[in-house]
Amino acid sequence: MSQVLVASNRGPVSYALDRDGALTAKRGGGGLVSGLSSIGGRALWVCAALGEGDREAVRREPSRLAAEDTGGQPVRMLDIPLEVFSDAYNGIANSVLWFVHHMLYQTPFEPVFDAGFESRWRHYERYNAAFADALAEEAAEGATVLVQDYHLTLVPGLLRERRPDLRIGHFSHTPWAPPDYYRLLPDSTAAAVLEGVLGADRAAFLTRRWARTFADCCAEVLGAEVRTGAKGELLIEHAGRSTRIGVHGLGADADFLRERSRRPDVDERTAALREQIGGEGRRTIVRVDRTELSKNIVRGLHAFRRLLDDCPQWRERVVHLAFAYPSRQDLEVYRAYTDEVSAVAQEVNDRYGTASWTPVVLHVQDDFARSLAAYRLADVALVNPIRDGMNLVAKEVPVVSDEGVALVLSREAGACAELGADALVVNPYDIGGTARALDAALRMPDDERAARTARLAAAATALPPQRWFLDQLEALEGRPAD
Ligand code: G6P
Repeated sequence: MSQVLVASNRGPVSYALDRDGALTAKRGGGGLVSGLSSIGGRALWVCAALGEGDREAVRREPSRLAAEDTGGQPVRMLDIPLEVFSDAYNGIANSVLWFVHHMLYQTPFEPVFDAGFESRWRHYERYNAAFADALAEEAAEGATVLVQDYHLTLVPGLLRERRPDLRIGHFSHTPWAPPDYYRLLPDSTAAAVLEGVLGADRAAFLTRRWARTFADCCAEVLGAEVRTGAKGELLIEHAGRSTRIGVHGLGADADFLRERSRRPDVDERTAALREQIGGEGRRTIVRVDRTELSKNIVRGLHAFRRLLDDCPQWRERVVHLAFAYPSRQDLEVYRAYTDEVSAVAQEVNDRYGTASWTPVVLHVQDDFARSLAAYRLADVALVNPIRDGMNLVAKEVPVVSDEGVALVLSREAGACAELGADALVVNPYDIGGTARALDAALRMPDDERAARTARLAAAATALPPQRWFLDQLEALEGRPAD
């Protein structure tokens, strides 16, 4: 089998630098890390150095990070000049492309395409070129390269120019905006992103819906021809080349989650959360997210408040565990949102809390074991994003749940395509509708909840990360991967 390279902004390991210069490695999780484990150490992972600790690690080990830090996974981290990195990651990827694909622009955070944008865009091009250079240098003849996400949309095209011998795939972990919204990007940017992705032999998405909107953008913005190939796959013909479009709906990692959620540290946190919830027989509504505008945490809190307003019988009888872990705090719009989440949670507690009942328990410090504990306890899981590529929380909770969980799920989450039949599906903007779904979820009879949870767990684990990854390789290489 040929060499496999994976490229993503965030790699499988990050480093913290302490005051006396010691580096501590922290390994990350997620679908790609699990997926890559299925092909052993045969892949090379190329990623960016994100913080000062990462940069220091690269200075000490410029070609490869130490295998013991990465769990044996060969990793090359790129030390891209800070200003270039920051403009590409914060200025373009997270402030522009993320906002476009999640359709998040609204007053006062509106798109601004001025000279500052143009200079940040040039840095996005340089950052993508740094990845293309590293991949071109590392790839053996005929290797397969899997490029990830909206940070690296230009890489497939740039890499093809440098190394036409390679097989190149691109995977989008986000939604893709429909053409009318996508076209708010400046024309040249809109075209460059699409042409960059089309540099791949195959571009893949989490759901058919996002694959379709990508194809629609290619047709409208580039005038590309969209065809359906022999195996029912979409094909996009543009500039004399053909790019295949694929769909791989990443599932939850059942084996890992079931084993991890039964460890003593999770038991301890389950007991601690029970204590915090208090009250005999009290129910719990759980949400776990990065503090991220697309996750719609504030509207979720308003819906919980509306539940307490409209259904007084739930007062004192339900606690909303809201875990909102910090994310992208270099951006003012994320910091402001983080403050708003805390303020709204406090408002609900001020309005309804009593000496023996705290309606909203908000935790902002990242703790995976505590998240798993909350999954185990949840009577109801609230997953109400405005738009989401997939949303793995929706898939993980039913797998980990101790006694069954009712899932309130946004119709705009990619996961809804697979889980919608057994979830209570909501319009994420509709606070009243979400409150009514929470009420129905809390009132769901135990046997119905258990039956739905079993079906949700089966659907959620249909494509585990290892298979998800191998399927992409097989499809790209046109033969079984192993
Ligand atoms: C989304 C993106 C990923 C990204 C993650 C966390 O899931 O699709 O590419 O890594 O968010 O965001 P961050 O900016 O912290 O890497």
